[in-house]
Amino acid sequence: MAARLPEDAQRAGPRRPEPCAQDGGLTAADDLVIHAEGLTKRYGPTLALDGLDLAIPAGEVYGYLGPNGAGKTTTIRLLLGLHRASAGSARVLGVDPWADPVASHRRLAYVAGEPLLWPALTGEECLQFMANLHGSVDGAYRSELIERFHFDPGKRVRDYSKGNRQKIQLIAAFGARPDLLVLDEPTSGLDPLMEVAFRDTVGEARGRGQTVFLSSHILSEVEALCDRVGILREGRLVEEGTLEELRHLSRHYVEATFSGPPPALELPPGVTANPAGETTLRFAVSGPIGSLLDALAGAGVIALTSREPSLEELFLAQYDREPQDAGAPAR
Ligand SMILES: Nc1ncnc2c1ncn2[C@@H]1O[C@H](COP(=O)(O)OP(=O)(O)OP(=O)(O)O)[C@@H](O)[C@H]1O
Ligand SMILES: [Mg+2]
Repeated sequence: MAARLPEDAQRAGPRRPEPCAQDGGLTAADDLVIHAEGLTKRYGPTLALDGLDLAIPAGEVYGYLGPNGAGKTTTIRLLLGLHRASAGSARVLGVDPWADPVASHRRLAYVAGEPLLWPALTGEECLQFMANLHGSVDGAYRSELIERFHFDPGKRVRDYSKGNRQKIQLIAAFGARPDLLVLDEPTSGLDPLMEVAFRDTVGEARGRGQTVFLSSHILSEVEALCDRVGILREGRLVEEGTLEELRHLSRHYVEATFSGPPPALELPPGVTANPAGETTLRFAVSGPIGSLLDALAGAGVIALTSREPSLEELFLAQYDREPQDAGAPAR
């Protein structure tokens, strides 16, 4: 469900009829909930999205990361059929979202980062209107969400704070119990308590087998919730995989404390060392850490800590930047 109408005036001319399973369900040949191939969008001279390939199966919670202007919202607009692709193709829930947005929107719900709602309606009227637009709602679950998000539905939209307007979108989207949730920075404006409520709600959606496409700047949120992560940079998907897979691409951090001043060590390739106190060295290791452990054997190590890179480090590694606490192993 889109909380607003398609905003792109480009849609013109006769619609191409799109083959679609009669009950709106997926065909055996197309069991991906989101499938993009070479999806590209130009806005005048700006190449906002450049040849995106995505294959998201049913039930997956997919985290879509990228800095400002990377093309996340552009991707979502194309997947929702709000804007028209310059090249490539997209299928959402088995249909081409540009050719037949109604069919795909029947089974998806959308939360925009900047809620555009109807200022004169009350929260309750908004929720009802959005449920009517979508065509389905689980009233009992929606009431549960109203409680969970501590939302007072009696005020007019224009009188709500940004966070409360965001709650309207979230309650409407999750309350519709759609097959697919498309969430564009959905927690902007939510306080930490509500962020927890959001995470619980995504967990429930996952438990029910719903698919979630979550664009976010909040790395801890993506780390906690997502089965797979894609990192977008300047319109291109530069990394994609489970967190486990992505961690192999980045560095491990190892801290070794010696019984006295650190000895001169012959470091294997891919390992750098920095002092971290009188008797301690911090190592950044690209690739397997076994070769470093071999180098440390017999060097008088009395304590050793190691940790995997966080998503923040993976993300910053894309920009050749070290996080501020990169050297400090978690204790
Ligand atoms: N309607 C538009 N007309 C012209 N340029 C646009 C339009 N929408 C987006 N762009 C440009 O496309 C690029 C990608 O923008 P997009 O909004 O998709 O980024 P984003 O990853 O969602 O960023 P943010 O994290 O700030 O929300 C940017 O350079 C942006 O200026
Ligand atoms: Mg955006």
